[in-house]
Amino acid sequence: MNMVDIILKKREGGKLSEDEIVFFIEGYTDGSIPDYQAAALLMTIYFKGMDKEETYQLTKAMKNSGDVIDLSSIKGIKVDKHSTGGVGDKTTLVVGPLAAACGVPVAKMSGRGLGFTGGTVDKMESIPGFKTSIEAKAFIELVNRVGLSVIGQTAHIAPADKKIYALRDVTATVDNLSLITSSIMSKKLASGSDAIVLDVKCGNGAFMENIEDATRLGQLMVDIGTSDGKKTIAVITDMSQPLGKAVGNSNEVIEAIETLKGNGPEDITELSMTLAGIMIFAGEKASSMEEGHSMAKEVMDNGKALEKLRLFIEGQGGDSKVMDDYSLFPQYKEKIDVLATADGFVWSIGARSIGLASQHSGAGRATKEDQIDLSAGIYISKKVGDKVTKGDVLVSVYGMDRDKIEKGAKEAEKAFTITQEKPERTKLIIKILE
Ligand code: URA
Repeated sequence: MNMVDIILKKREGGKLSEDEIVFFIEGYTDGSIPDYQAAALLMTIYFKGMDKEETYQLTKAMKNSGDVIDLSSIKGIKVDKHSTGGVGDKTTLVVGPLAAACGVPVAKMSGRGLGFTGGTVDKMESIPGFKTSIEAKAFIELVNRVGLSVIGQTAHIAPADKKIYALRDVTATVDNLSLITSSIMSKKLASGSDAIVLDVKCGNGAFMENIEDATRLGQLMVDIGTSDGKKTIAVITDMSQPLGKAVGNSNEVIEAIETLKGNGPEDITELSMTLAGIMIFAGEKASSMEEGHSMAKEVMDNGKALEKLRLFIEGQGGDSKVMDDYSLFPQYKEKIDVLATADGFVWSIGARSIGLASQHSGAGRATKEDQIDLSAGIYISKKVGDKVTKGDVLVSVYGMDRDKIEKGAKEAEKAFTITQEKPERTKLIIKILE
């Protein structure tokens, strides 16, 4: 077998066999296939596409390129939740405790943020003392004892994806259904959970800008997860404005804590309840998603989920006093408020611009090597549909470095469109695919 024949076959619209896909993945991972041939194949896949079977074989080969975690020593049906990438998406910190408080073990590996979307691992690290790289034994012990642990994804999970993702990033081949699906699902399938709940974002702050494309992506991921023997459910959700009001790191953790206390923004609360309800159903602790939803509401109302969060933070070495005293989080020094220049209604808030503004403020990374400022971020005071009067604060940008927040504030200002007409309310939960 050789790469030229494989590239040629795909270039002519052929269907790649399992052996050909494994040959490519193994060779590219071990360095025997050079970047230029891998890039050529990715581009042919981009234009000619892959069918479901090829996508599954690609996902499986990528999953098997590294460690496949065995979580069988954790009792119960382990449920993972994954978002395709959102701005202000702190739902993992809310749904993890909700599901765990209902008896569903959550053993989660999360990534760091890059570009305009944040990562759960960075957010958790804004809690003083919190460790996201703990030994496998301690991770499993914590899930068995508390029901929840979140750790950083190791380099040994789907190493093929690490190389291929970096190559896609510089060859304009990121936004392809089969390539996104294989990238996300190879990591999820290698992470060892029994069931997977996917939050597929749709809108200007997401890979998929319209419902049709998001549905195709969600359905393909569900099919691939199911082919691999995992119960997989996808929820298509709106990402045409940032989720919640806080975007950054420590501020997002605070918003997640407030949500578990019952004081969260409406959208974060609704999405978290929906996702947790599905996780509780997938973990077979409820006989329907609706029953799961009611169970999630109960543990939010009676404080049991908040208590789970406390045990989880302490279990990973964090100072749980932050939950009652937010001044223990890293504190910013500089803040700029962006004001409304006219009366009217907020028509739209570009999620991408807010994500970029957060990145510029110091809360995100432009390159993997960048150090992030855990105090930095964005607070959105007016959301879509809110009435504004000239001079009202629309959004605040804060952090340690004045130059960075000035750059962030310029970007955040661009995110807002104010009109005389009040926009219609859009649905947050668009559809559920099983
Ligand atoms: N997230 C991933 O991990 N991979 C993609 O291709 C897109 C989003």
